[in-house]
Order: sequence, then C-alpha cells, then structure tokens
Amino acid sequence: MSQFELKDEQNHPRTEVPEFTRMVEQSLSRRRFLGGAAALSAVAFFSASPLSRAMAAATGTSPLLGFDAVPTSTADSFVVPPGYQAERLISWGDPLFSNVAEFINGGGNSAADQLGQFGDNNDGMSFFKVDDSTAILAINNEYCNYELMFAHQGKQMTAEDVKKAQAAQGVSVLTLNKSADGWRFAKDGKYNRRIHANTPMMISGPARGHALLQTSADPKGKQALGTFNNCANGMTPWGTYLTCEENVNGYFGSTGQVEITPAQARYGIGLEDAGWQWHAFDKRFDLAKHPNECNRFGWVVEIDPKDPSSTPIKRTALGRFKHENAELVIDKDGHVVVYLGDDERGEHLYRFVSEGKYNPNDMAANRDLLDQGTLYVARFDAADGELKGKGEWLELTFGKNGLTPENGFNSQAEVLIHARLAATQVGATTMDRPEWVAAHPTEPVVFCTLTNNKNRGVKDNQPVGGPNPRAENHYGQILRWQPANGRHTAAAFDWDLFLLAGNPTVHRNNLYAGSANINKDNMFNSPDGIGFDQAGRLWIQTDGKYSNEGDFAGMGNNQMLCADPATGEVRRFLTGPIACEITGLAFSPDQKTLFVGVQHPGEDLAGSHFPLGGDSTPRSSVMMITREDGGIIGA
Ligand code: FEO
Ligand code: CA
Ligand code: CA
Repeated sequence: MSQFELKDEQNHPRTEVPEFTRMVEQSLSRRRFLGGAAALSAVAFFSASPLSRAMAAATGTSPLLGFDAVPTSTADSFVVPPGYQAERLISWGDPLFSNVAEFINGGGNSAADQLGQFGDNNDGMSFFKVDDSTAILAINNEYCNYELMFAHQGKQMTAEDVKKAQAAQGVSVLTLNKSADGWRFAKDGKYNRRIHANTPMMISGPARGHALLQTSADPKGKQALGTFNNCANGMTPWGTYLTCEENVNGYFGSTGQVEITPAQARYGIGLEDAGWQWHAFDKRFDLAKHPNECNRFGWVVEIDPKDPSSTPIKRTALGRFKHENAELVIDKDGHVVVYLGDDERGEHLYRFVSEGKYNPNDMAANRDLLDQGTLYVARFDAADGELKGKGEWLELTFGKNGLTPENGFNSQAEVLIHARLAATQVGATTMDRPEWVAAHPTEPVVFCTLTNNKNRGVKDNQPVGGPNPRAENHYGQILRWQPANGRHTAAAFDWDLFLLAGNPTVHRNNLYAGSANINKDNMFNSPDGIGFDQAGRLWIQTDGKYSNEGDFAGMGNNQMLCADPATGEVRRFLTGPIACEITGLAFSPDQKTLFVGVQHPGEDLAGSHFPLGGDSTPRSSVMMITREDGGIIGA
C-alpha cells in the first residue's frame, strides 16, 4: 500500500447516495452462519455453464494445475515452484539505450538519465509478437518511491527531482530478442521507447476539445502533455497497448486558496497533493494556476508500440476515473467490449461497448474503434444474504437515466469527464475497490478482483451486501459474472463470488475465514492483478498486507496464485521479496515464458535489497519465468 491510499481517503469526501435498495443489511450472526457452505454454493453457481462440468469440491486435484504449491515466504527472494526457474529481465533504472547511464544505488541518477532508463514501479504489461525471434514488451511504470529514489528520501525536493519523478512514470516499451537462452531485453532495440509525464498526447473521443479540457497551454483542449500513475493495462487485437491512469489526483495541489468543486472532490482533487510536490515546482500541476489540467488525466491511453514515433491517444469514450485495467474482448457480433474497474473504496465497475465493429481483415480500420460507443456502469442485485444474483449495465449517455442539465450534465463530454458523478446519478453499486478484470479465453464469463474496503459497512453509501458481503473488508474477494446469453454486449448478467479471501486459521465459521476454496495452505489477502492464460487458468496476484501477523498471520509476502475456474481450486505459484507487490503478467504466445512484475520491493525502507542483494537499493523488476523442461507454464 502506498501513501496514495491514505491521501485518497483524506481527500475524498463523497456524496452519500443510498443504494442496494432491494438489499437489507445482513446481520453479523447471519454472516457467521453462512460460512464456507455459502461459498461452496457460490462456486457451484455456474451449473449451466460448460465451465462447471468438471466441478468438484476444491480437492487439490484440478487437472489444469500441474505444479507443486509454493509455501508462504517472508524472505527477500522470488520463489517459484520446483521445476521452474526465474530470471530478472529488467529493473528500474536499467538503461534502454547504450548512451544512457547505468543505475546508481542511493538515488544518484539524474532526471536526464531516468528519461532513457526503465521506469519505476512496473505494473501491468503486454507482450506483442513481432516475429519468431522478436517481440515487444510494453510495461506500465506506475509511481515512485521517493524514499528509494532520492538520497533525501523526498524531504528536500527540487525542480530536478520532480523532473526525475515525472520521467520515471508512464510506459517503458522494450524490444525483446529470442535466443537459445530464451527471451532477452535488447538495449538499443528498434522499439525501445520511454513514454512519461511530459510526452505529447492526443485527446480523442467525445470529450476532445471540451471547455473542461482546455488550458492556457492547450486552448483547444485536444493535446495533453504526458501520462502518469499508469496502473494496469490492456491490449487490442489490432496491435495496440492500453495504459490506464489511476491515482492521478495525488499529483495536483494548490499554491493558493481556490475553491474545490464537488466534481474535483469526488475525484480526490484537493488543495493538498499526496506528497509528490509536483505543483510546487511545475505550475502545470498547480490548481490555482491551471484548474483544468487535472481533467486531462484519469483516462485510458492507447499506444502503438510498433511505432516509436507515434503519438499516444487518450480515449475519452472510456470515461474518466481511477482506471485499473482495460480488459478488451470482441463480442460474437464484432463489437469491442472493454471492462474497466475504478479502484477506490465505494467506486464502480464499468463497461464500454463500441459503436463500430472489429474488422479482422483490416487493422487500419480498427484504429479508432475506442472513440465511439456507449459507456455503462454496473448495478448488482441480490436477495438478503445471497452471494449471487442478477445485475444490469446502466447506460451513461447524456439525456438518458437522468443524465440531464437539471442534474448537472450538459453534454456527453461532461458525462465522461465526470463519469463517477454520472454513475452515482444512475444508481450504480458501490464496490470494494474494483481492480483488474479478466475475461475467460473461451467461455463467456468475466472475473474482477475487489481488493479490499475498510469503509464497507462504515460509510452510509457502502452498505454490506451483494458482491460486497463483509463489513470492514480487509481480505478482498473475486467477483464473477456471466453475461446474458453469453453476449458481452447484453444488458443483464448473473453474478456470484468465485472466492472470498480470508484467514481460516484466525476466523472460523464466518465469512472472514474465506470461501470453501481457501485454506491454510493457499490463503492470501487483497487480490489485485488477474489474467487468464490460453488454457483458462486464472492467475491471481496480490497487493496486500505483508505483516504476517494478526488477521494476516500465515500469509507472508505478496504472491501469485493460480486457480482452476471449473473446480475453484486455488494454488500458490510464487512468492515475492520483502515489502513488494506482485503485479503485471504477460505470457509469450507459446505459453512457455511468463513475465511477472515485482513492484516496490523494500517500500518504506522495509529492508529489501531485491533483486541484486548486498547493500543495493531495492528496485522494481520484471521477472521472467520458464520451466526447466521448457514446458507450458502452469500445466
Ligand atoms: Fe494501481 Fe489499483 O492498483
Ligand atoms: Ca493494482
Ligand atoms: Ca492494489
């Protein structure tokens, strides 16, 4: 957990709109009574789906899972199962070009160095095959750890330091070459590129040019400068990379007294930043001088990784919020569907459906499919105490569902720029922090991690119930839904919970023990990154409490697990070093190499020296996992 979350909480007063009107808050005794049996019935929910044909209780015999479980760890190391091997592909500060300085321990590199080096805090990533021996790995660089980036640990920031922090975020595009040793990063490779907080970008879609996006530097509101806090990702079948801007509010502050609008407040924008101090040295981030600059962030950005000279495009049709990832599927009829989480306590789950259709025979014709379409937000319904139910996608279109001038919406651009306000207007369900969404590769079923939410049952607009069944939820759960008629464009869906994370060694006979598929050997907290491989294994990464004490006793460091969606079995696949988050995953097309991100090892000076050991500065890194026998990962 970073300093963002704390600041978000402080900066995020919210409108209190009652919801779940059909849902009566469950009593604690009722929740205790349900326990694992309720969760088992949840696993059995998709009885009509082919996915459930092989279903059984979680017995440890899932045919999809072919590796031995890894135990929990508190060591400063990256541990994979027997028969697997892990190598470091690249770490924060490694130069992308031979004319750039190497990483210097203790914060010795300049902003200019950082512009040509791998960014910090790598997160979501996608693998693009070029040919049999060449590939591109596009990787998000989410934020910085000032305590590791600067000798002064962020206590004496300068304009140069802010430039370095701006250079360390965004996206790193890497060329990979394949040799007998496997995939390797190619310094000076033709696709190598750094995209950062000052890279010119186009703004496209319905909000392009709107008055709220206009600034003195860009009076037309059509060209933004940069992207930052790039959390997770997506990729399109037409070969582009989607990078998602998440906690962008924390980079804006004010040097003067300005009035914070309700819309700004809903997005966590306030007079104080989250401690990054950009506004003190770069007036673009000073709300007193440039009140609209903050509206130009919080978008999904599309990048062509094969053209290092291309201009990234902010796709406003996908809405503005704290984007986690962008899971893109092509519906049977050719419409592009993108599932989008807004990661904040009590925020929402969204879906975009393109107006146009994907054309597999004309990639150029697909380039702007993300500019026109309809954005929706999810409402979940359930009977009292049920961990499954129905749901509906509510349209966020100007003029519909109360998105009218009387309610403060004057155009589709405003609906998109203030998507959170629109979601509240239409009655969307407040969720336990939607992180990544992953769609099954062959079945019409979609999963979303709800990482945790200490405000559940505490704040009036976040009642306990439905897919968010636990008050003060510090373990998280994985939601699953099946679109009506197997169509991702359908208005309705059925949902259940694939799992409730929990600790059965601390809690018994209540939902905090976790669902039936969680036990002392596979328990974890705060699921975050998820993704499917081609065979339909669900890979789960954690960004949780690593204290290994109290409610988290026996969980150890953050980790990656693998689940069989048909049986519900969950097995731990790897463990990360001290004080890291495991986030970001990408498979090579042959499924024999898995790239996994280790983010912020040693945050808050927790004592890691990963990956290089000794007295070295801990560095976020991309790890590359293969099997000793060259086989398929996980099988
Ligand atoms: Fe950047 Fe919600 O994780
Ligand atoms: Ca995340
Ligand atoms: Ca997280």
